[in-house]
Amino acid sequence: MKLHIVKNYDELSHAAAEKVAHIVKSNPKVVLGLPTGSTPLGMYKELIDMNKRKEISFKEVITFNLDEYQGLPREDVNSYYRFMWDNFFSHIDIVKENTNIPNGMADDVEKECTAYESRIEKAGGIDLMILGIGNNGHIGFNEPAQFFGGITHRVKLTENTIEANSRFFGAIDRVPRYAITMGIKSIMHCRSIMLLANGKAKAEAIKKALEGPITPELPASVLQLHRDLTVIVDKEAGSLLSCR
Ligand code: GLP
Repeated sequence: MKLHIVKNYDELSHAAAEKVAHIVKSNPKVVLGLPTGSTPLGMYKELIDMNKRKEISFKEVITFNLDEYQGLPREDVNSYYRFMWDNFFSHIDIVKENTNIPNGMADDVEKECTAYESRIEKAGGIDLMILGIGNNGHIGFNEPAQFFGGITHRVKLTENTIEANSRFFGAIDRVPRYAITMGIKSIMHCRSIMLLANGKAKAEAIKKALEGPITPELPASVLQLHRDLTVIVDKEAGSLLSCR
């Protein structure tokens, strides 16, 4: 594992964007796994700027998003589809057909999940998966559980996550109760992983993820077993780490 503890959110965003830019430059047809949430917003902004300055191109890049709420239409302001187009895809030269996000409105969820995995496989697998982390240690929407989840599947969100994400919805009862997420197996299958976290609220999850026992009760702890993991945290998120 490579651990970078940087000063603040701006440095985190810059370091993450640099890593993505490097991999896109060395392989223009790279397959990226992408997260939503507040954490990657700064990185997306930097990548948009690099694209505008013509330093990198996303014309041949393929992307797979980690997760999507179930039951929110694409155009809903809180869907992850909308998040990705508003905050990233609309501002870069990516080809729409090369972007993939689970369909939260699919009638047959199981079929949608299997098809999503097949699309990842057909693309040759994911080269770099970028992850945020939930306060409870979730990655994607893989919530604390008794077992590590497998491939892309439907999940019931925990109260902790519903509450944490209610800030975007205005009211807690508007937050969907279910989501589709790439599973732990799908994530561990990616050739490399970059985990990002900032702020005090993430310090405990980061400490447990990187230095605690590997347990499905703290889903991100499984990343300790990945052979190519880069972690970038700001000082606050890294404040409880003993190796800091
Ligand atoms: C959501 C997403 C995760 C994300 C997490 C943290 O629940 N499903 O992929 O990592 O929230 O979000 P934030 O970056 O806003 O703290």
